Amino acid sequence: MTTAISTQGLGKDYGGRPVVTDLDLHVPAGCVYGFLGPNGSGKTTTMKMILSLVHPTRGAIELRGRPLTRATRTTLLAGVGSLIEEPPGYGHLTGGENMRLVQRLLGLDDAQVARAVHTVRLTAQMDKKVRDYSLGMRQRLGIAMALAREPALLVLDEPTNGLDPAGIEEIRALLSALAASGTTVMVSSHLLGEIDRTATVLGILGGGRLLFQGARDDLLACSTPDVLFDTSDPPRAAALLGRRHRARLDGAAVRVAGLGHGITAQAVAMLVAHGIGVHGVRRDEQTLEDVFLDLTGGRGL
Ligand SMILES: Nc1ncnc2c1ncn2[C@@H]1O[C@H](COP(=O)(O)OP(=O)(O)O)[C@@H](O)[C@H]1O
Ligand SMILES: [Mg+2]
Repeated sequence: MTTAISTQGLGKDYGGRPVVTDLDLHVPAGCVYGFLGPNGSGKTTTMKMILSLVHPTRGAIELRGRPLTRATRTTLLAGVGSLIEEPPGYGHLTGGENMRLVQRLLGLDDAQVARAVHTVRLTAQMDKKVRDYSLGMRQRLGIAMALAREPALLVLDEPTNGLDPAGIEEIRALLSALAASGTTVMVSSHLLGEIDRTATVLGILGGGRLLFQGARDDLLACSTPDVLFDTSDPPRAAALLGRRHRARLDGAAVRVAGLGHGITAQAVAMLVAHGIGVHGVRRDEQTLEDVFLDLTGGRGL
């Protein structure tokens, strides 16, 4: 499989403070890559480095296997469409007038612009002023601007931010359709739920570092779930388990956070050695959301 974006040891400092550290991203061509992380984790900074809008402090970037340098960036970035932070577009102009500005800037033909507008389903709104657009329409106009050049790679920073569920669903469907037609889409969000079903590969950032990268299904495998102990003396069991682990009473059970198999067996033996009867040991079901919150220190929502 070819690689659309890869980075090696990518990093950025602001005022001597590292905000992105040691990123080795691997974005396979033709996928929707969900770039997730809490606010302030470095998503926008990373995307700006990939788009040459911010100069990396450390490391290297390759687009489609070619190093991104001062000499290659104009050529390489000509095939990249992007939407970073606020949706673009002049409010006092209509959608159509905004699209014509992009058309002239990039030297596109009418058919390319019409196709992009049609893809985001804004054809009927082209005569309306952008200041009268909803946020969802403005996001879609921004995506149309990014799409008009028919890029092989689309980099979208939080395109679902602030949208209602219907608007989010529209963007999801659009991204999946683009990937199905061969466009690589890198899309960021601070909410796992907004892109987890659309993205086939996830990269999760926390504090500027990559905490997980891989298939969505592999994310669950990297979690250590809570274990629930049913015992004859829950308060004492909680106190004993709490010496070594994060333990608390949960109904009639004691919940212990993040226990692997070996440690669970030791915990049972320790309770029994203290004369506490262990009636049951259950592994809690973890959702993708739980794992995301664990990885990002609970700051994902
Ligand atoms: N131009 C800048 N100057 C100084 N600090 C910045 C600048 N841009 C971003 N930061 C800081 O870098 C960190 C990461 O920011 P950002 O990349 O915007 O994260 P995210 O997009 O995940 O919310 C934050 O602590 C932010 O305050
Ligand atoms: Mg951001």
